Amino acid sequence: MTALEVEIAAYRSANPKSKALHDQAERFMPGGDTRNSIFWSPFPVYVTHAEGTKLTDADGNVRTDFVNNMTTLIMGHRHPDVIKALRDQLDHGVSYPAPSPSVVRWAEIICERVPSVEKVRFVNSGTEATLNAIRAARAFTGKTLIAKCEGAYHGNHDAIQISVTPAVNVAGDAEEPESVVMFPGINPGAADDIVIMPYNNFPAAERIIRKHATELAAVIVEPINGQCGMVPAKPEFLQGLRDVTAELGIPLIFDEVISFRASRGGAQEFYGIKPDLTCFGKVIGGGMPVGAFGGKDEIMSLWDPTHGPGQVQHAGTFNGNPMTAAAGIATLELLTPEVYEELERKGELLRQSVRELIAELEVPMGVTGAASLFALQFTTENVTDYRTYATNDKQMLQTVFTGMLNEGFVMSNRCAGNVSAVHTDEDIRAFVDALRKVLVRAGYA
Ligand SMILES: Cc1ncc(COP(=O)(O)O)c(C=O)c1O
Repeated sequence: MTALEVEIAAYRSANPKSKALHDQAERFMPGGDTRNSIFWSPFPVYVTHAEGTKLTDADGNVRTDFVNNMTTLIMGHRHPDVIKALRDQLDHGVSYPAPSPSVVRWAEIICERVPSVEKVRFVNSGTEATLNAIRAARAFTGKTLIAKCEGAYHGNHDAIQISVTPAVNVAGDAEEPESVVMFPGINPGAADDIVIMPYNNFPAAERIIRKHATELAAVIVEPINGQCGMVPAKPEFLQGLRDVTAELGIPLIFDEVISFRASRGGAQEFYGIKPDLTCFGKVIGGGMPVGAFGGKDEIMSLWDPTHGPGQVQHAGTFNGNPMTAAAGIATLELLTPEVYEELERKGELLRQSVRELIAELEVPMGVTGAASLFALQFTTENVTDYRTYATNDKQMLQTVFTGMLNEGFVMSNRCAGNVSAVHTDEDIRAFVDALRKVLVRAGYA
């Protein structure tokens, strides 16, 4: 048996009720799944309760959660203030056919914390946030072409599901990558409306931007690339993008759906760089479905319904709904500068402890991340972009992922994770001890 088969056998025997639920799920949902990012082989665990840092599954297994619903739950599960805000709102109704006072406060908090955001609009997912930010840039410039980075995920819509995880043999030159449509069903023409830049390589990105300067409606970038393993942008890469787009009059969009976790004003505060538009999601909804996009007034005013015909149309039954606003406000109000300092300290403690373990065991691994975010990398390459990320050993990744589940720790199915405000140093030490056990058991050490 391979190390992976050993872990999977242990996983199967510890999770019979999840397996039964999955068999039933397969009858009603394709592959039993309705969200690829939380699916894994042979079947995911089915969660019945979450509290603080712990997830309990249908078999009664309790695991420490380092996923926090894909970076969303920055205050952990069921924070009392967030639950109280939701309960209070429940007593007043879950959604209205009119705005609520809370949406005003919510927008105010975001605009106050993120100075580049003069006006904001709410949606229900990060996908809708990037869809609308791209639409904003196209409406504002009257152009169509978008530049994005290879290996960047910006949500699940046609305009941007290009070159997220392309097979390297079809991805072209690393310095001038091809636009690769990610899966069937995406409008093949979408690839023609995108140019792909290598992440963290400013000279190459600049060449591409200058080459297409007159056609570009926007450059979109994630200040911390989640898909490649929470890889922070080099400051000179982001600053270079800001400088060249400002010079050429091209709107710069920061996708801060994940990186808004990095500080009170998002990664743009962390880096000291102001984009023209910003996309939000995850943290700002306190665990409820959410997205938002905002930026310069002159761009956002294209949405102003008082300006009459010709404005960008944007409805959405649940946009700015009061339940999400309640959870979002409660969460954002808990996020003081001190909380961010602690999140960063714990994130660094985890990354440093893993680095020390890797050095001690001499395993062919690395760890990436910034602020409260981390990812294990199963490669000896220094992962700074998609091509280095693509050298990950997938078998080792799956073995460690499954082994960590068996040891009582949950990461994303790509072995990325994050600490919440309620993780303790003890949780982090326990995570590193479990990783040691898994690596030794699998024979990687
Ligand atoms: C950087 C980034 N942008 C956009 C999205 C899409 O957000 P959602 O899953 O809420 O649609 C994600 C989701 O993980 C993301 O990580």
